[in-house]
Amino acid sequence: MSDDTRERSRPPASGPERVAVYPGSFDPLTNGHVDIIMRGARLFDRIVVAILVNPEKLPLFSIDERVEMAREVFRDEPRVEVEAFGGLLVDYARRRQAHVIVRGLRAVSDFEYEFQMALMNRRLVPGIETVFMMPAEAYTYTSSRIIREIFALGGSISGLVPGIVEARLRHKTGGRTEL
Ligand code: PNS
Repeated sequence: MSDDTRERSRPPASGPERVAVYPGSFDPLTNGHVDIIMRGARLFDRIVVAILVNPEKLPLFSIDERVEMAREVFRDEPRVEVEAFGGLLVDYARRRQAHVIVRGLRAVSDFEYEFQMALMNRRLVPGIETVFMMPAEAYTYTSSRIIREIFALGGSISGLVPGIVEARLRHKTGGRTEL
């Protein structure tokens, strides 16, 4: 049997579903996030995009809008689920029976904050592991904050966010680019 045939005839993996949670504010979802989610969907049986409900922040998009847009983007991806969450991330991960938290690392500047969160989450629940993934190079300088700023100042964000997000941004401003 060739290696190729053996690969194809391997029985499906049994055992519990491997669930990962990909948490964030996603205000808005960027193509950098989409890149990480699709990489996660290849590694895990299910990746739950968990959008934080943060009553302390005034977001550009409401939690319902952010959930709706992300669900639309991943509507044809059976391994990707989108949900809002509040409270501690590790509690949410436990409720979802996820043993992995996925976070994207774009540059060294992300590291300190991510390192702190990963170790604190590990201290809270040692059984949950944080896995860092790198987006495609094209997205290493993309962030939700910078997208909001560029759009507000009239710059082009085309190719940096999913089409539905770009359309919703325009809709928010009635066609003007300023927010
Ligand atoms: O996209 P962001 O804003 O960088 O995501 C940050 C997020 C949502 C992952 C983080 O703020 C979080 O996990 N919040 C939930 C509350 C919590 O568990 N805080 C302790 C983290 S150590």
